[in-house]
Amino acid sequence: MSEAHAIKQHRFGETSRTDRWWIQPVAVFSILSSFIIYATWAGMQGANYFFHEGGAHYLSPLYSPLLYGLAHEPRVFSAIQPGWWPDFLPFSAAILILAGPAGMRITCYYYRGAYYKAFWADPPACAVGEPRKSYLGENRLPLILQNAHRFFFYIACLFVLVLSYDAFKAFWFLSGDGSKAFGIGVGSIVLLLNAFFLGCYTLGCHCSRHLFGGRLNCFAKAKVSKKCYDCVSTLNQNHMQWAWVSLVWVGFSDVYVRLCAMGTWTDWRIL
Ligand code: FES
Repeated sequence: MSEAHAIKQHRFGETSRTDRWWIQPVAVFSILSSFIIYATWAGMQGANYFFHEGGAHYLSPLYSPLLYGLAHEPRVFSAIQPGWWPDFLPFSAAILILAGPAGMRITCYYYRGAYYKAFWADPPACAVGEPRKSYLGENRLPLILQNAHRFFFYIACLFVLVLSYDAFKAFWFLSGDGSKAFGIGVGSIVLLLNAFFLGCYTLGCHCSRHLFGGRLNCFAKAKVSKKCYDCVSTLNQNHMQWAWVSLVWVGFSDVYVRLCAMGTWTDWRIL
């Protein structure tokens, strides 16, 4: 590469690339921004996150685990809201839990690469000039906190377990006599897919690979770990796809439960 060419590429947005390199950062910016705006709005509503008409048991993933809520809702504590919550602040149970999954996404190795490009052009795309001259890395605050990813991974695993339990409960419908019967509604499938997609995203995390195989020196002596390592490595190869599918489906799951709870959509029973 000539010196003149190298200098030219240092200008913001300049590149020798002839493909439509800007599509990916624009798409990432649009989808992530839309999700953040929607999730913030939905998380602040504090209503229509639980659908129980017809004996159904659908809880929005943005509110699960539901720590506080009304008597008929599957809450952990019996109160509507914590006693220490300031009166002047509107309360929503989602506020108490969203930091866990949000921390997992924000510190995710894939998302970091994507939103560094899309939100602050660092760089906008590979081989495209960026609006700064030096590389600062993630070696000082606040970006050094990205190293907490492995801890968010453990928290995210707990969320996957909770959401899997929610999906299981979505297949049991309350009858008129108070007993529960197995059934399948469209919402059951929506919540099952939600747990599945999130499980594939979480288990495909780089921390998951380290957990199952990274600490081993010899795979031949740890056959079970090797099998697990191979499985999560397969998921890891499609980590980007799982990241987007699971993100979009979390949003759609909340939309589904919300619109059913509002009476806008009807939850069709398949069985
Ligand atoms: S690297 Fe993406 S969730 Fe861990």
